[in-house]
Amino acid sequence: MLETERLVLRAWREEDLEPFAALNADPEVMRHFPSTLSRTESDALAARYQSHIDEHGFGRWAVERREDGVLLGHSGPMQMTPPHPLAPGAEMGWRLARAAWGQGYATEASRAAMAYCFEQIGLEQIFAFTSATNLPSQAVMERLGMTRRPDLDFDHLMFPEGHDLRRAVVWSS
Ligand SMILES: CC(C)(COP(=O)(O)OP(=O)(O)OC[C@H]1O[C@@H](n2cnc3c(N)ncnc32)[C@H](O)[C@@H]1OP(=O)(O)O)[C@@H](O)C(=O)NCCC(=O)NCCS
Repeated sequence: MLETERLVLRAWREEDLEPFAALNADPEVMRHFPSTLSRTESDALAARYQSHIDEHGFGRWAVERREDGVLLGHSGPMQMTPPHPLAPGAEMGWRLARAAWGQGYATEASRAAMAYCFEQIGLEQIFAFTSATNLPSQAVMERLGMTRRPDLDFDHLMFPEGHDLRRAVVWSS
């Protein structure tokens, strides 16, 4: 478990599944992804995140607000696997419920997650990428002090050719 001034990053719990499904079903939150998620897909995603944490000691942690215990979303790096073009690197990810945007939570959580992975896990580099259109996510990368890496940009195969979310822009620590 990691603590910051306002947040806790921790293992996933049964009671997270409902609020996590609610944010994954919000079209505005999922605007830069292929689609919103059903409850079953959302539960499976939380399970996948938790098994990555169990296996590697880090991953997309559940992010809880300390003052009221509300689940805000997730943050943390995950190991990429082939055929991903950046495999076997680790990729930061963050996703918060809409009500939690604009308060610095994504940056605060992600800064703590990255520091932990560098200092305690021994990761040497962490990547982040998103679609060229996802400016809020790129702003988080900037605030985290990451470096824009146009040399590593790639086409994301989860989107068909010509899709405006297909081009992924890459940043690294
Ligand atoms: C990407 C995402 C997490 C960014 O959230 P965010 O709230 O914009 O980012 P932060 O938490 O870092 O907050 C920064 C904002 O909070 C403001 N802020 C308010 N109080 C603050 C504080 N105490 N500390 C820092 N910033 C604060 C900042 O000024 C900034 O506002 P601005 O966007 O108007 O410049 C959010 O848009 C999201 O969940 N999107 C959907 C999922 C997604 O696309 N994920 C990325 C996939 S790659």
